[in-house]
Amino acid sequence: MTTFPEYIAQNEERDGVRFSWNVWPSSRLEATRMVVPVAALFTPLKERTDLPPIQYEPVLCSRATCRAVLNPLCQVDYRAKLWACNFCYQRNQFPPSYAGISEVNQPAELLPLFSTIEYVVQRGPQMPLVFLYVVDTCMEDEDLQALKESLQMSLSLLPPTALVGLITFGRMVQVHELGCEGISKSYVFRGTKDLNAKQLQEMLGLTKPSAAQGRGPQPEWVWFKFLQPVQKIDMNLTDLLGELQRDPWPVTQGKRPLRSLGVAMSIAVGLLECTFPNTGARIMTFIGGPATQGPGMVVGDELKTPIRSWHDIEKDNTKFMKKATKHYESLANRASSNGHIIDIYACALDQTGLLEMKCCTNYTGGYMVMADSFNTSLFKQTFQRVFTKDVQGSFKMAFAATLEIKTSREIKVSGAIGPCVSLNAKGPCVSENEIGTGGTCQWKVCGLDPSTTLALYFEVVNQHNAPIPQGGRGAIQFVTQYQHSSGQRRIRVTTTARNWADAQTQIQSIAASFDQEAAAILMARLAVYRAETEEGPDVLRWLDRQLIRLVGEHTCRVSATIDPNRKQLIPVFVFSVRSLVFNNSPDESSYYRHHFNRQDLTQALIMIQPVLYAYSFNGPPEPVLLDSSSILPDRILLMDTFFQILIYHGETVAQWRKAGYQDMPEYENFKHLLQAPVDDAQELLHTRFPMPRYIDTEHGGSQARFLLSKVNPSQTHNNMYTWGQESGAPILTDDVSLQVFMDHLKKLAVSSAA
Ligand SMILES: *[C@@H]1O[C@H](CO)[C@@H](O)[C@H](O)[C@H]1NC(C)=O
Ligand SMILES: *[C@@H]1O[C@H](CO)[C@@H](O)[C@H](O)[C@H]1NC(C)=O
Ligand SMILES: *[C@@H]1O[C@H](CO)[C@@H](O)[C@H](O)[C@H]1NC(C)=O
Ligand SMILES: [Zn+2]
Repeated sequence: MTTFPEYIAQNEERDGVRFSWNVWPSSRLEATRMVVPVAALFTPLKERTDLPPIQYEPVLCSRATCRAVLNPLCQVDYRAKLWACNFCYQRNQFPPSYAGISEVNQPAELLPLFSTIEYVVQRGPQMPLVFLYVVDTCMEDEDLQALKESLQMSLSLLPPTALVGLITFGRMVQVHELGCEGISKSYVFRGTKDLNAKQLQEMLGLTKPSAAQGRGPQPEWVWFKFLQPVQKIDMNLTDLLGELQRDPWPVTQGKRPLRSLGVAMSIAVGLLECTFPNTGARIMTFIGGPATQGPGMVVGDELKTPIRSWHDIEKDNTKFMKKATKHYESLANRASSNGHIIDIYACALDQTGLLEMKCCTNYTGGYMVMADSFNTSLFKQTFQRVFTKDVQGSFKMAFAATLEIKTSREIKVSGAIGPCVSLNAKGPCVSENEIGTGGTCQWKVCGLDPSTTLALYFEVVNQHNAPIPQGGRGAIQFVTQYQHSSGQRRIRVTTTARNWADAQTQIQSIAASFDQEAAAILMARLAVYRAETEEGPDVLRWLDRQLIRLVGEHTCRVSATIDPNRKQLIPVFVFSVRSLVFNNSPDESSYYRHHFNRQDLTQALIMIQPVLYAYSFNGPPEPVLLDSSSILPDRILLMDTFFQILIYHGETVAQWRKAGYQDMPEYENFKHLLQAPVDDAQELLHTRFPMPRYIDTEHGGSQARFLLSKVNPSQTHNNMYTWGQESGAPILTDDVSLQVFMDHLKKLAVSSAA
């Protein structure tokens, strides 16, 4: 007998799926009463070393509106060579190549072991990988030098056949010609005027593709000037990068450099659009500051006028934000419809406009990385980690993916939240109630890696008076088609099923199946989504209302059977989400939300509930409560907030360290005590993407505030109430302690009951 936690872990391991509920309420009415919908966190490319891809293509259901993939849940008649689709009940003939199957000779896709299986598509050409570097040259020499070295290093990590190109920008934008003999040439563009695809084609001498050619890569003579295989030009490109200089235009005192980021990105998108439509490609953008001229500018060049803050946004006092956002949105849409990824590496002390540019990474599955400088290990290591390879020597990145969902009749898909765009595919599985990006059963995800995780929300549509037979199961199939970094097209299929239960008679078994961690992240994604789309106090109120429902009436009913220690998790999590959603500068918020929206469950949990470990002479390291009572003089603490790894030495430990006990032979165990958290921190620093910021501090140290603000917000932030102006309902803003928050919830619950 497996327990639910074991069952949940096994399913996550095998299928990359975590459902909020693992037994589903069998009617729409009961399902809506559950507050947390039936929903799943799905990691399409979850790493599976035991899953060698099979070298044939999937067998599909013949019903045109279904096309589900043959899977272990299908009923098979081996004698008649028929299989019944478990989604639409269509009876299908096996293809001729399956003539030899029998009970003892089953194809892999029918074995329960292969509820997740990967196929290699045999048709079609091998696709090249395309990497287009877009490099800001308005930065300090130290940054530029470090960046140039990282870019040169990355060339050595690319497969020899990968195509590379280079665009640099400052006041002007330069598209570098790579195929030419001898001296380097480039096409120069003004940074103040946008170009549409047609103008760009003319200016770069790219022949306009005919309608028939338009769907795939264009012939070599169209693009060879700007994109070349690494093996052919790595020496020349290394030299070219080495020779890059700071933008030569003088910057007068009190001014920002003129940075034509918006036009540079537009040219990058346009170049790939007309040369490699529908082929995996990465536009890697490296920026040292905000766009200050032309389309996409987020701040003017006068240093005395700062970039917009939340305050300006609230007051609607932002001159550039709407226009810039529109510019980047349209670029993001063009890139994603061509299957191209846009990455942004923003390294600067001030904001660079991530808020305006966020859709570039969000719509395309690109990376967003934020650091203070290019000369930091945060940037260097993180960038290097993008090129991590698996045991077969292939990049752990996948391109131009689509995710399609099939559901059994009693359940439909409401939408997805994650780094994806809708493909507007209607069908019988699509719910009318949209959650996140809805109204479709297919999404495009241009860039995927093994941790990319989408949140998918479902709606039970079965009517109350249409009972599901005892023992009935609901099924969901996830079909992910993608371009593997080897150039192959692959299809990964995951088929899952869960039992139905009548919520009136079997509430216990539904309650026992509740996955609180998954539910917390799923609700938090929804909260972040609401915050993105409707910003402001309404989101706070919505969040609080959900909590009241969750903590209140509903949990009383359902949680009777839930472990009382776990019950508290949800309010704690959602409380933390408030700070994820509402603190920081606009760019920082965009950055945190970006990562929260794409990481897997384990990483997302750390983001909203940091992990604290204690090291002492009293035994091995142990997890301790994220509470000020955990701070003791003779302890070292290691805190992981996902974005930061912090080591904190308690008062006594700090004194010993200052006195140098660790260097005395008789105190060797103290040396080991000091070293243990450092080793554990290194482990995290070496594996996480993006690399966290590393902080080493002690009792009384200035950086200790990072720890203190997490363990005990009530001491650093006092009751910060503001009162909603229009509606009169009290709302809380910003950081408040959990205690204050719970009190607030109780008050709201009382007033809404009255
Ligand atoms: C980058 O930082 C390191 C350490 O802080 C320093 O030694 C090095 O000189 C810097 N690089 C450049 C190019 O200035
Ligand atoms: C690389 O540079 C060398 C020396 O400048 C030049 O002769 C050669 O043609 C260049 N090759 C390519 C492919 O640009
Ligand atoms: C991501 O894009 C979707 C639309 O595809 C949008 O609704 C959502 O708010 C975006 N999320 C973030 C974190 O920007
Ligand atoms: Zn079917």
